[in-house]
Amino acid sequence: MTDITQAPRGEIALNAVKKSFGEGAFAKDAVSNCSLTIEKGKLTVVIGPSGCGKSTLINLIAGYDRPTGGTITMDGKKVTGPGVDRLVVFQETSLMPWFTTYRNIISGPEARGQLNAKTRALADSLLERVGLGAFRSKYPSQLSGGMQRRAELARAMINDPAVMILDEPFRGLDAMTKVLMLEYFAQLFEEGRRTTLFVTTDIDEAVFLADRLIIMCNKPTRVREIIDVDLPRPRRLADLVESNEANQIKMKALAILHSEAMKSFSAGSKSAADFVEAYSKRATGAAAH
Ligand SMILES: Nc1ncnc2c1ncn2[C@@H]1O[C@H](COP(=O)(O)OP(=O)(O)OP(=O)(O)O)[C@@H](O)[C@H]1O
Ligand SMILES: [Mg+2]
Repeated sequence: MTDITQAPRGEIALNAVKKSFGEGAFAKDAVSNCSLTIEKGKLTVVIGPSGCGKSTLINLIAGYDRPTGGTITMDGKKVTGPGVDRLVVFQETSLMPWFTTYRNIISGPEARGQLNAKTRALADSLLERVGLGAFRSKYPSQLSGGMQRRAELARAMINDPAVMILDEPFRGLDAMTKVLMLEYFAQLFEEGRRTTLFVTTDIDEAVFLADRLIIMCNKPTRVREIIDVDLPRPRRLADLVESNEANQIKMKALAILHSEAMKSFSAGSKSAADFVEAYSKRATGAAAH
């Protein structure tokens, strides 16, 4: 059940995925013609403007919702529903307020009737690993925001998913806690190399964490660009501030994201569209130098 010694598992492939909400003439696409791969043992970061369709995509990959078109497979098998092989950590806390930290962490195995000496021992080691040994018997309301996030990571890890999916898990944390959580999360990934999909709207977070950065188009969303982030690991936030390579990736990604965000403003107006096109050329050109 430990995740440190295992070879990376789980590759997810999306092929021409489409998702519409609403019926008939009222149907609106949130995702359209989206194809991407979440590679085994890599930390794939998906970044896109707010409202572009990232959470919709996660719901499809997690199996909570079905695509309107296209296919999603995990290790070649079609995803038809939720599974413990793909676990999601959401932006909002989903700890149960009436359970202690420990009870929250064991809730997965408990619900599946798999609570035994081994899973209890694993819960104990995870509590220590996320630095919450002293908070075992506290309730979520007695934990800080950062501690709650770590408890949720432990609660997901006890199920030993092949793929970990995180939807803006650090949004809303104060700046200091966020920095600590990012470094902590990078270390957890580097220890286990668990296949990970991390969704964010924060470019610094994205470049710091990513092996592969997938930039999404505005709604209806699909892949706009993929950037490989070959920065050495282990990573420290302080090192990245001074890294030319990291800054170039950031500028390039920002120029693309900006042009995507501007598209929603310019829709329907020829002069605004011309302005956005000229701006994007300038910004992308500047990032390339
Ligand atoms: N169940 C639903 N019914 C109708 N429309 C929906 C539904 N879920 C999402 N949408 C629409 O799909 C679009 C994408 O929403 P989604 O929550 O996936 O965006 P997001 O990229 O996760 O945004 P954020 O970064 O703010 O979390 C939005 O326009 C939203 O209104
Ligand atoms: Mg979202």
